[in-house]
Amino acid sequence: MIRLAHFSDIHVTTPTLEWQREDWFNKRLTSWFNMRFLGRGKRFAHAEEVACRMMDEIAVRNIDHLIFSGDATALGFESEIRRAAEVLRGGELAIPSLAIPGNHDYCTETAAASGHFERYFSAWQTGRRIDEQHYPFAQPVGPICLIAVNAATANRWAWDAGGAIGIAQLERLKRLLAELETGIKILVLHYPICLKNGQREPGYHGLRDLDALLDIANAGGVNLWLHGHRHGAYHFQKPAKANFPVICAGSATQTGLWSYGEYTIHDTTLTALRREYDPTTKRFRDAETFSLSLSHNR
Ligand SMILES: [Fe+2]
Ligand SMILES: [Fe+2]
Repeated sequence: MIRLAHFSDIHVTTPTLEWQREDWFNKRLTSWFNMRFLGRGKRFAHAEEVACRMMDEIAVRNIDHLIFSGDATALGFESEIRRAAEVLRGGELAIPSLAIPGNHDYCTETAAASGHFERYFSAWQTGRRIDEQHYPFAQPVGPICLIAVNAATANRWAWDAGGAIGIAQLERLKRLLAELETGIKILVLHYPICLKNGQREPGYHGLRDLDALLDIANAGGVNLWLHGHRHGAYHFQKPAKANFPVICAGSATQTGLWSYGEYTIHDTTLTALRREYDPTTKRFRDAETFSLSLSHNR
């Protein structure tokens, strides 16, 4: 029996941000405006406090492995990534951990190329790799294997929150899946297969090479897809075009939506407990349970 804790989209920020001249001409300025004046900052006003409470509770709930599926920050600044890693207590909890970036963490070309996320979350990114390339990487958890895929990309336009894995990483993922021993294979990435209503995400918010990834995941024997990006939690036993179930963790820290998942896996059955934050008691409480079969359902 394996117990996983899965959380996402904590969107931590810091009072002082290291603005550069280029940021007045890229997506960061509009993202900041959104945060400051269009309500996003208010929705994440308690992000750091809630994330700290979550980690305090996870630390004592017999979890074997932590999974963070991206969007650590609001704007992808180094100070925000550093603070998010501190809040999530990377390496400090003595629970093995996996993290991948989200689109906010790669907010600009400079942020994506900086390696800040990979540096501050290095304790969450150990694993087996192909050709010594950083992504994808695989971490074993008993008889289970977690496979981290990076789909975050820097986007030019303010309205574009889409992502892509790219041909080279897809090819490495295909090889990695083929090399892994048989057992439960769990793919972790920031982007969903579909929305809560089962429809595909619009191009400006979704994964641009979703079809190519689904082909590889189906052929490679993936048993489960874990993601964030959408801030409300949901799950499907069989989303369209996939031979496996999918779980969206939602945002762990957005006011009103704040929750994370605990998954207990026994053989090929996953039992999930979604725990949501109660601002009155400042603790998480049980909110929803559901089960998924991890057997391939073609
Ligand atoms: Fe997000
Ligand atoms: Fe996102």
